[in-house]
Amino acid sequence: MRYKIALLGGDGIGPAVINEGVKVLNAVGKKFGIDFEYEKALIGGCAYDDCGTPLPVSTIAAAKEADAVYLGAVGDWKYDSLPADVRPEKALLGIRKELNLFANLRPAIVFDELVASSTLKPEVVKGVDIMMVRELTGDVYFGQPRGIEMRDGQRAGFNNMIYYESEIERIANVAFETAMKRNKKLCSVDKANVLDCSRLWREVVTKVSEQYPDVELSHMYVDNAAMQLIRNPKQFDVVVTGNIFGDILSDEASMLSGSLGMLPSASLSDSRKGMYEPIHGSAPDLKGKNIVNPIATILSAAMMLRYSFSKNEEALTIENAVKSVLKKGYRTQDIYTSGLTLVSTDKMGDLIASEILN
Ligand code: IPM
Ligand code: MG
Repeated sequence: MRYKIALLGGDGIGPAVINEGVKVLNAVGKKFGIDFEYEKALIGGCAYDDCGTPLPVSTIAAAKEADAVYLGAVGDWKYDSLPADVRPEKALLGIRKELNLFANLRPAIVFDELVASSTLKPEVVKGVDIMMVRELTGDVYFGQPRGIEMRDGQRAGFNNMIYYESEIERIANVAFETAMKRNKKLCSVDKANVLDCSRLWREVVTKVSEQYPDVELSHMYVDNAAMQLIRNPKQFDVVVTGNIFGDILSDEASMLSGSLGMLPSASLSDSRKGMYEPIHGSAPDLKGKNIVNPIATILSAAMMLRYSFSKNEEALTIENAVKSVLKKGYRTQDIYTSGLTLVSTDKMGDLIASEILN
C-alpha cells in the first residue's frame, strides 16, 4: 500500500513539528507495511521569500496531486507589514478554498494524564471529549464585498458575513454524521438573536436534523457557548458552527486540554482528500529551540490515517502511543508539571515512534 503525502512545513516551528509527525508516520508504515511517499512544498512566508507569493501554483499542484496534505504552520511577525494579499495567512485560506476543505474537525480531548496542566479545575476538565465541527470556506472570512474605503469623509472597514443554504446544509450533514458515530448529541452555535446570517443557519440546521431523528440537536448563542465551554465543558459532545465562531471557540476549547500544543485538526472536502495540521500557529519566537510540543501534529497524522486512508487501527496505534508516553511521565515544557520528565521536541517524537514499534 502506498500513499502520497504533500508535506507543507511552512514557517516558524512548522517544519520541526512536521518532522516529528513524519517520524511517527514512518513508524506506523513500518509496523503495518504501508509506504508513505512525501513531496515537500513551500507555503506561507518561506514561499513568499522564495517565489514572491505565499501560495505558489506548484504548491497547489502538489497538494491536489497528493492523497493528503500535512501542514505545519504559517506566519511570522516579519511579514506583518506585507500587503494583505501576500501575507502568509492568505496561503492558508487559499489552500482551504482551492481544495474545497469546507469541514474542519477540531477535537478537544483532555487526556487523564494532563488534567493537571489545564488552567481550569480538574473536576471541570477531566473526561472532556468534544468534537468541534467548524465550517471553513465561507462566512465573513470569504464573503464579498470586503475592503477599506472612504465613506462620509472617513475610512470604513467592512466584511460580509454570508452563508448560502447549501453551505450550511453540507456542514450540518458532516456534523450530524459525526454525531451519529459518537454520542448522538449535537449543539449548533450561532448568533440568531442578532444576525440574519445566523437565523438562516439555525433554520437550515434544524431542517437537516429531520434526516437524523436519532441525534439530539440543541442550539446555543455563541456568547453563551463561550461561557458554557468554561463553566461546564462536559455538556458538549459534537459542536457545529460557522467559520469565525469556530475559529474563536476552538482556541478556547483547546485550553481545556491544557495546551494548544495538544490539539490536532482535519480539514475535509467532499472527497477523501484532507489537510491535517496542528491548531497551534507558527510560534516564531520558539523556532529552533527544540522545545515545542509535537503531539498536536502527531495526532493530526492519526486523523489523516483515519479520515483520508480509512486506517482506524493505525490511527489508534498512534493515539495509544501518545497516551502511553504521557503515562510514562514524559512532557514537553508546555505540559510539564513538576516531578515529571522534561523532554525536547525531537525526543518526544522519538519516544512516540519507538512506542509504536514496541
Ligand atoms: C486557524 C487560524 C487561521 C484561521 C488563521 C491563521 C488564518 O487561526 O486555523 O484557526 O483564522 O482560520
Ligand atoms: Mg484560529
